[in-house]
Amino acid sequence: MGTKSLKRRVRDSQNPPMAVAAPPRRKPRSYVTVSVLLSATLLAFVIFLLLAPSNTWRAFQRGVSYDTVTVINEFPHDPQAFTQGLVYDTNDTFFESTGLYGKSSVRRVALRTGKVEDVQNMDTSLFGEGLTLLNNRLFQLTWLQKVGFIYNPKNLSKIATFNHDMKDGWGLATDGKVLFGSDGSSTLYQIDPQTFKAVSKQVVYYRSREVHNLNELEYINGEVWANVFMTDCIVRISPSDGIVLGWILLPKLRKELMQAGNNVDVLNGIAWDGEQKRIFVTGKLWPKLYEIKVSPINKPIEEGMIQQLCLPRPFKYP
Ligand SMILES: *[C@@H]1O[C@H](CO)[C@@H](O)[C@H](O)[C@H]1NC(C)=O
Ligand SMILES: *[C@@H]1O[C@H](CO)[C@@H](O)[C@H](O)[C@H]1NC(C)=O
Repeated sequence: MGTKSLKRRVRDSQNPPMAVAAPPRRKPRSYVTVSVLLSATLLAFVIFLLLAPSNTWRAFQRGVSYDTVTVINEFPHDPQAFTQGLVYDTNDTFFESTGLYGKSSVRRVALRTGKVEDVQNMDTSLFGEGLTLLNNRLFQLTWLQKVGFIYNPKNLSKIATFNHDMKDGWGLATDGKVLFGSDGSSTLYQIDPQTFKAVSKQVVYYRSREVHNLNELEYINGEVWANVFMTDCIVRISPSDGIVLGWILLPKLRKELMQAGNNVDVLNGIAWDGEQKRIFVTGKLWPKLYEIKVSPINKPIEEGMIQQLCLPRPFKYP
């Protein structure tokens, strides 16, 4: 309702009740039409704001969030595990995929102790990569072979082998329907879990820049989170269009481990406990796994900072 019509109503209501003789004043027709149209537009906009998922809204306004992390808990992690895939199951248990030739495996790991409770070592010709859990099956990629494996999560016995369309195998995640895959490029793939064909591909963009080297993936509340290889950054991606929704900067974790004398490799591995809303991260050969809380950075982000910290050149094989 416009303020004019509100004022008029107020004025009308102040008329003495006894003055019944005067006929009610009519608003001009065009004024009514315009105000109805305006109200309808406003109402539609409010409904859009209320109903649109937050990532749609953010993509709509092209806003990007910049977050830092606080460590809530730290847990032991096998310092021999070259983490390439990490997925939380239930009951404080992870499944983890490890890489390197001769050290690749899929394993079940206890959160609290870091103890490897079960392990399936891979053939020495294979380099383990991304891992996810869908319909009570573990799906694992390998780096350069375009081949992946399906395991029974109960005893890690191999059920099947599959081939995919990606250039390599790097990261894997799921929303419970499709598989999200990365191959170290700037493309986020959506893969049919039955045929293993890529049903959709989105190039990931931060403003006008491609985000190269997408690595380990996790699906969290409608977003795909990805480690960006060779950086301490996690990028939050809108999976439907590849738009970057936000950046999480985690340089402190790796620095602290290095300062403590650990020979650690890059940050890699994100896991989401949807039940207890816990986020876990670790890295390749890290002796620790962290439960983190994500919160906004309370100072302005300089334009060049994200480029320097989070947007590496495309990875080239040596
Ligand atoms: C949960 O994990 C603990 C320790 O690993 C184990 O003793 C217990 O049986 C598990 N519970 C279920 C329901 O799987
Ligand atoms: C693993 O468990 C499944 C049933 O859950 C069974 O059929 C299979 O034989 C088991 N594999 C091994 C190696 O124990």
